[in-house]
Amino acid sequence: MNFDLAAFRAEFAFFDQNPDWVYLDNAATMHKPAAVVAAETEFYQKFNANVHRGAHQLSQQATQLFEQSRDTVAAYVNARSREEIIWCSGATAALNQLAFGLMGSVLQPGDRVLISAMEHHANIVPWQFHCQQHGVQLDVIPLTVNHQLDLAEFKRLLALKPKVVSVTQVSNVLGHIQPVAEMVQLAKAAGALTIIDGAQGVLLQQPDMQQLDCDFYVFSGHKIYGPTGIGVLYGRQETLELLKPLLYGGEMIQQVSFSGTTLNQLPYRLEAGTPNIAGAVGLAAALRWLQQWDQSAIALHKQQLLKQLYEGLAQLPGIELLSQSSKNAGIIAFNIEGEHHSDVAALLDQQQIAVRAGSHCAMPLFAAMHKNGAVRLSLAPYNTEQEIVRTLLAIKQVLEILHG
Ligand SMILES: Cc1ncc(COP(=O)(O)O)c(C=O)c1O
Repeated sequence: MNFDLAAFRAEFAFFDQNPDWVYLDNAATMHKPAAVVAAETEFYQKFNANVHRGAHQLSQQATQLFEQSRDTVAAYVNARSREEIIWCSGATAALNQLAFGLMGSVLQPGDRVLISAMEHHANIVPWQFHCQQHGVQLDVIPLTVNHQLDLAEFKRLLALKPKVVSVTQVSNVLGHIQPVAEMVQLAKAAGALTIIDGAQGVLLQQPDMQQLDCDFYVFSGHKIYGPTGIGVLYGRQETLELLKPLLYGGEMIQQVSFSGTTLNQLPYRLEAGTPNIAGAVGLAAALRWLQQWDQSAIALHKQQLLKQLYEGLAQLPGIELLSQSSKNAGIIAFNIEGEHHSDVAALLDQQQIAVRAGSHCAMPLFAAMHKNGAVRLSLAPYNTEQEIVRTLLAIKQVLEILHG
């Protein structure tokens, strides 16, 4: 099937409203198709009520929509059961729940956790904080010279028998795709629980939890065409049972008295307070909408854009590319020699090219690369060839302004 880019792009009202902008900040958040906006709006207009606790039919209807959305996610990621899908506010919340929830249950003083130098701060700082509190050792997989995870070092660190391995599927700075399926198998063979940060990887292809075989997988709705404030913590039921809840109150409780409290069953045990009901409905709408499109055609289009952008940048003088183009999910980090990344981004902003500059919540990665930041261009399938041409021209102009 051919990819009808015009039809795909027409699904996003944002571009009609902002015809002069080129949006290349998709790794930060994506735009939402009409189906997602409509599903959220419809929820608030027709079905708004709190879930699970209401005696009235409206609440039962809202609960049904909310729980059907869980079924949609469970089917999308090929979970074994709906109980394996925990709603949360996003990847950050999920990773915080994991780092907190495994301490004291799985992780004891003297145990080890293994992460990588490529992680987003959300997969570093919760571990750092809780490991310190619990006397757990945090080890870090270093990078190769090509800014990939060093698999030889990974194997060496696995020999130290970490109890938990938590790594990203795709670098949010460089776009580099990591061999997580292979890493999961190696980590499991070494006896570790495995966590995959799928925030940037969830869009690579439809994730298959039974095939990937990890213990936990996390992602944010807003990076897969869904609303902000909703995300998913997938876990195998038996490993979810190991988690100590981070938050208490609401539907996660079965019985309370001052002599003690009994917690609810999964998935509710890990979902305290009123959830983001409309967000869950919106995320389910995003996944259903996405499945209507030919995934391989979408991926091919994005790869073509990446190639065009990468080759165009490589031809410009004074451009330092930090990303590699192979095994790349559609993100390019670069600098202009001798110039500050923020200046470059500001000059691009003046030409209505939306990019991101800085250390992208990945300071240890920049330390490993001996850089203090970069400009990041992140693509989505709704981007066009003409937009890449415009971006390259804009960067050329920035070069002229800065280097004369
Ligand atoms: C790899 C990675 N992990 C985690 C996160 C955190 O996601 P969120 O801010 O949606 O919680 C991000 C966000 O950019 C990310 O790119």
